[in-house]
Amino acid sequence: MLAVLLFAAFWVVLGFGVFFLGIRGGPKAALETRPPGSWRARRALGWSLAVIYVAFGIAIPALFLVGNHNNANGQVGGIKLTAAEKHGREIFGERCAQCHTLAAANAVGKVGPNLDVIQPTYQLVLHTIQYGCLQNPPPGSQEACLGYGTMPADVIQGTDAQNVAKFVSKVAGKE
Ligand code: HEC
Repeated sequence: MLAVLLFAAFWVVLGFGVFFLGIRGGPKAALETRPPGSWRARRALGWSLAVIYVAFGIAIPALFLVGNHNNANGQVGGIKLTAAEKHGREIFGERCAQCHTLAAANAVGKVGPNLDVIQPTYQLVLHTIQYGCLQNPPPGSQEACLGYGTMPADVIQGTDAQNVAKFVSKVAGKE
């Protein structure tokens, strides 16, 4: 955060420097000449440009930073995530995202079904994590899913699995 602000400040300062040298006709002229007549007008112009620099250099990046911050801290399409769901989101990124698409986790995996489309319930996610999926399961098997392919069982367990299930069932299809 600090680094980004310093970075923005650097460009703002550079912008001012270039601007003031420019308006006085280069570094030498800046030292030698006092600007004639319309000094007031130039100063007014200088200030308005300064305002523009500040707006673009600080205000707009700051807005984006605030937006990203919200995102990283679990605001998904206006839905507020609990600590458990944020944790679930991280685990999802590590263990599920390579195979599944889920917009709220920025996941674009194509091996398994798009979770934004099938919008699984908490129970279904938990069940699927526990038993996995077989493409041609025996009749009545716990590993029966949609028949698309194979999903490994027990990729995660316990609280991790519950948190992922909470997260997925809350956000799927919402962003
Ligand atoms: C190696 C790839 C892979 C990984 C990793 C993976 N999945 Fe899957 N997943 C699949 C496939 C393939 C299917 C479809 C299975 C089928 O159609 O029978 C699937 C199906 C599902 C379903 C739908 C089940 C149903 O019956 O509708 C859910 C929910 C799901 N996965 C959640 C997860 C979660 C949560 C994780 C992370 C813990 C995860 N998956 C990790 C490949 C994967």
